[in-house]
Amino acid sequence: MRQKELMNLLSQMSEAEKINQLLQVSGNFYLEDTILTGPLQEKGFTEESISLAGSVIGVSDPAKIMEIQKAYMEKHPHHIPLLFMCDVINGMHTVFPIPLAQGAAFDPELSRACAEASAREASASGIHVTFSPMVDLVRDSRWGRVMESTGEDKYLNGLYAKAMVEGYQGENLSDENRMAACVKHFAGYGAAEAGRDYNTVELTEQTFRDSYLPGYQAGIDAGSALVMTSFNTVNGVPATGNRWLMQQVLREEMGFDGVLISDWTAIEELIAHGYCENRREAARRAMEAGVDIDMMSGIYATELPGLLSDGTVTREQLDQAVLRVLTLKNKLGLFENPYKDADVLKAKQTALCQAHRDLARKAAAETCVLLKNEGVLPLSQSREIAWIGPYVKEKNLSGAWSMFGNSQDTVSLEEAAREVFPGDSYVEGCPVLENSDELIGVPGVKAWSCLKLQQEQEAALEAAREADVVVMALGEHRYQSGEAACRTRIQLPQVQLELLRKVAALGKPVVTLIFGGRPLELGEVSELSDAVMQVWLPGTEGGHGIVDLLCGIREPVGRLPMSFPRNVGQLPLHYDAFTTGRPQFSKEGEIKYYSQYLDCPNEALYPFGFGLGYTEFTYEPVRLSCDTMKKGETITASVQIRNTGRQRGTEVVQLYIQDLFGSSVRPQRELKGFQRVTLNPGQEQTVSFQIEETMLRFYTERKCYESEPGSFRVWIGSSSAEKNHACFRLTEK
Ligand code: NOJ
Repeated sequence: MRQKELMNLLSQMSEAEKINQLLQVSGNFYLEDTILTGPLQEKGFTEESISLAGSVIGVSDPAKIMEIQKAYMEKHPHHIPLLFMCDVINGMHTVFPIPLAQGAAFDPELSRACAEASAREASASGIHVTFSPMVDLVRDSRWGRVMESTGEDKYLNGLYAKAMVEGYQGENLSDENRMAACVKHFAGYGAAEAGRDYNTVELTEQTFRDSYLPGYQAGIDAGSALVMTSFNTVNGVPATGNRWLMQQVLREEMGFDGVLISDWTAIEELIAHGYCENRREAARRAMEAGVDIDMMSGIYATELPGLLSDGTVTREQLDQAVLRVLTLKNKLGLFENPYKDADVLKAKQTALCQAHRDLARKAAAETCVLLKNEGVLPLSQSREIAWIGPYVKEKNLSGAWSMFGNSQDTVSLEEAAREVFPGDSYVEGCPVLENSDELIGVPGVKAWSCLKLQQEQEAALEAAREADVVVMALGEHRYQSGEAACRTRIQLPQVQLELLRKVAALGKPVVTLIFGGRPLELGEVSELSDAVMQVWLPGTEGGHGIVDLLCGIREPVGRLPMSFPRNVGQLPLHYDAFTTGRPQFSKEGEIKYYSQYLDCPNEALYPFGFGLGYTEFTYEPVRLSCDTMKKGETITASVQIRNTGRQRGTEVVQLYIQDLFGSSVRPQRELKGFQRVTLNPGQEQTVSFQIEETMLRFYTERKCYESEPGSFRVWIGSSSAEKNHACFRLTEK
């Protein structure tokens, strides 16, 4: 439809039609004869608003979507199609590793491919919009939703945001196999105080703009069709009713002109926040902020008529919001083809097709991070292996947001391992959860009886005694991360640790695999194991991906996207912290009055960017093409690396820069680039990075993004703990 026709349509719509374009409801209303009773009716979901609602959340069956669309459009006065939206986060039927794991691949192109595959499956199912990517910066692994983010680094998150948005959307939203992306949760949701979900966010403007906004900006610049508001307050004002944040920052400064959707009932929550006294006030605030779609609170539907009739909300405000929704429908081509790609047969053929499974297997392998390896990996096929732990047989390896994946389609560790090591023993040994207390709120999971636990433990120890090597498959339950899944203890369940202690005491080489959605405290695990690999929640092809690494068909190439703490008391923890006025060990002879803990080092157990492969690399000193850089010019930082190990391998060479003195203090270092380099044994290569002035910009005291002349330090190496560095000066002329 051309713009003129769209405007014409808008002008013909009644006020009720317009208001309800902004209403998003669940698909249940359309699937059977809707009888509204109870709380949903209280929310204002009347028959009229359902018959005029602009979008539907949560339906994923193509036949149902087509049926709903057909019946809805026939009755709609202007035959305006519905938008169908869903959370297709890390895949649909084919489930890819969780986003945090994808961050570990240090490979946004891999995530682009996963997003493309997800869009192929989802669009064939009739879905028009996915609530992804989640680009919130995360620094506190108590927060369950760290699993939905690509990690603690703004630069890396930005690259992923761009790749995912482009992967979902392609060039044109109306093209086959494409769907609209929704960057979320705007803004600062990842900074929830003390890692507790939905909690308060207090950030200085500098940190907010320097560290938290770049991820969203990258997604917006890549053309994300939607942005979702976050649940949290930002410095005292809830994001969903925050006019400054949405109008000035998001729309004006960041240039977002797409659809702004609230998170689930977030408009209604303005009342619980203590920001709005009633529903009417909540609707007013959200409209003023420019929130276009009300997800599931029904407040716009009930309150906008009154607010419009007394002029509190203007008809222009309403028209602007409606026009944005209609524009999205138009970009998706729904006025021409309201079903878009929905096709029952295609959906069936695309779901879990071999190409998607192959990609899932590659992704599962490339997202694992090898944290320790004392000569035990890769496993030799001539050795007898005992596979022990609750994740040996577990079929659900997909994480909290994978509601369309079926665990029966997943390849478990045992299934994959049996293909290569058929004669080995496979024993659970203990359940995934610590005790029945932890089962509260985890539906469908039962604790084991003491007798069963004892028998399984004995079987596990027996298997370990008989074996040459033990692989322990341990971790958190998949519901222990995700939304509303925060923890103050981030260790493995005691029952698993006990089993590991007993197995380790047998003196056999132990390889420990850690499943889960967040960085855990792994100090003891690491001490007890000869090798440790973080395998996250790896998805449909998780078993294959992991076994490919264990038996050496592939080499681990993942690097940590979040710092792994020594203990929970270090949180929040991130490598790009400020130095403080008392950096540890900065004065000779002084041991006490530093910024430090008495009982724990400051550093992470495993730092951001860290990960091992199956070979070794050495680095020559960092070289700069010039030790002065004039604004407008570039310099080159390079390093020669050499594969000094015995096999071909891949290194993720990382570039970090520190602005040594600024008008406001600068992080100890910031990731500014990385390259994957694959070399044969003995082979050398020079790896170079161009340093441009734009890479040195930050939000300065003058309240703009700019670089400041002065000294900079450049590191090139294998993680954020790299020491190999050189310095240069930036000058005005
Ligand atoms: C709430 C979550 O915060 C958000 O990420 C999700 O997209 C919506 N619910 C819709 O399910």
